[in-house]
Amino acid sequence: MSNTVIAPSILAADFARLADSAAAVEGSADWLHVDVMDYHFVPNLTIGLPVVQSLRKATTLPFDCHLMIADPARWAAQYAEAGAYNVTFHAEAATDPAAIAKDLRAAGSRAGLAIDRDTPVEGYLDLLPHFDLLLIMTIKAGFGGQAFIPELLDKVRAARRHIDTGHLELRIEVDGGVAEDTIAACAEAGADTFVAGTAVFGAEDPAAAVRRLRALANG
Ligand code: DX5
Ligand code: ZN
Repeated sequence: MSNTVIAPSILAADFARLADSAAAVEGSADWLHVDVMDYHFVPNLTIGLPVVQSLRKATTLPFDCHLMIADPARWAAQYAEAGAYNVTFHAEAATDPAAIAKDLRAAGSRAGLAIDRDTPVEGYLDLLPHFDLLLIMTIKAGFGGQAFIPELLDKVRAARRHIDTGHLELRIEVDGGVAEDTIAACAEAGADTFVAGTAVFGAEDPAAAVRRLRALANG
């Protein structure tokens, strides 16, 4: 049985029809990736808690919330309380990542740690026992539709080695430019969880795109 998780990112969906976009991938996708941007941690602005709370009632898909926000210590647990399955925040924005992970788990979600393009992963490997997921950005966080940066897969390889050697149980997620021509390389590097925005919601048939991505990830 495959361990693969495909998480379409609603950043590439029609923001006036988020419930319809979620429905389009129910049954094919595993999670729905929800990109929260605050105009401070990244220069872009998307959605926040009220939209997550409303959308939570509109779909059965588990939410994979990716917080690109400046103050996760203040906000992250509220996404867990809003019913997110997993809440990921950025290492660059946190002074005590383990404490936030603890808060997330106490609030009922899984905890994810995200590493942006310019951040080496090595300094964070020892924190991984506190987490359920490690998100390695394969672009610079902030916008959809950017070109995949293959060199960043070295971080996935390093994390995979560390996780396997330490017998840790967590997912490695890749985010940014993941598409039909890049997903197999991500899987080969050791990722098991794949965010895809443009490749899913930019496709004619989003559900079929998810199925193709899954097949390619599974080799
Ligand atoms: C960007 C977001 C991504 C974005 C990916 O910072 O974190 O989740 O939606 O979009 P694509 O798949 O188009 O690169
Ligand atoms: Zn994301």
